[in-house]
Amino acid sequence: MEIRILQASDDRSGFRSGDPELDGFLQRYAGQNQFRHHLGSTYVAVDQGRILGYATVAPGQLEIDDLPAALRKKLPEYPVPVLRLARLAVDEAARAQGLGKELLRFVLQLAIRLAKDYGCTGVLVDAKAEAVAFYGKLGFVPLEVLEGQSDARPAPIPMFLSVREIQAAARRSP
Ligand SMILES: CC(C)(COP(=O)(O)OP(=O)(O)OC[C@H]1O[C@@H](n2cnc3c(N)ncnc32)[C@H](O)[C@@H]1OP(=O)(O)O)[C@@H](O)C(=O)NCCC(=O)NCCS
Repeated sequence: MEIRILQASDDRSGFRSGDPELDGFLQRYAGQNQFRHHLGSTYVAVDQGRILGYATVAPGQLEIDDLPAALRKKLPEYPVPVLRLARLAVDEAARAQGLGKELLRFVLQLAIRLAKDYGCTGVLVDAKAEAVAFYGKLGFVPLEVLEGQSDARPAPIPMFLSVREIQAAARRSP
């Protein structure tokens, strides 16, 4: 199994995460968003040519007041750069085998690369309620961002993990 950037030739038709929106995104939009519109990049976990999971990322920014108080200190008053984890999904056939965590760790490494090359304070994800505990296990904390809430469907919970903490964790267990 390898994790690498999506290629135009990858067969995305068989991917089933159980969430039609996440499956449809991979099948219809991930390619054009990456290759034509440059909106974001998708990384796929591939085993013998079959996509078992994916993570889509894009650069973003976060208002300084939305950061956890401990991180806000000593930072300037303007929005700070982040890596946004826009989508993450694992095929139902490959669940609960550590693949989601592996994809997430891969994304954390992308954030470190981004921080070194262009600037990035951390990874931001709009977590579905049922995935909050999953992100919490890797150190993400909920942010108190209230914009974009809607009564129509459960609002996602913005969660953040700073590059500083990613690096500290890497030093503890390289
Ligand atoms: C969430 C998802 C990506 C997890 O992928 P996965 O490969 O099954 O997860 P892993 O096997 O890597 O699990 C890693 C750890 O998180 C835990 N975990 C996984 N899903 C969890 C959940 N929904 N709630 C709480 N803990 C969870 C596992 O028990 C495991 O714990 P451990 O390290 O102590 O053993 C996957 O369930 C999925 O694709 N769900 C549908 C789409 C979705 O919700 N995506 C997130 C959108 S914000």
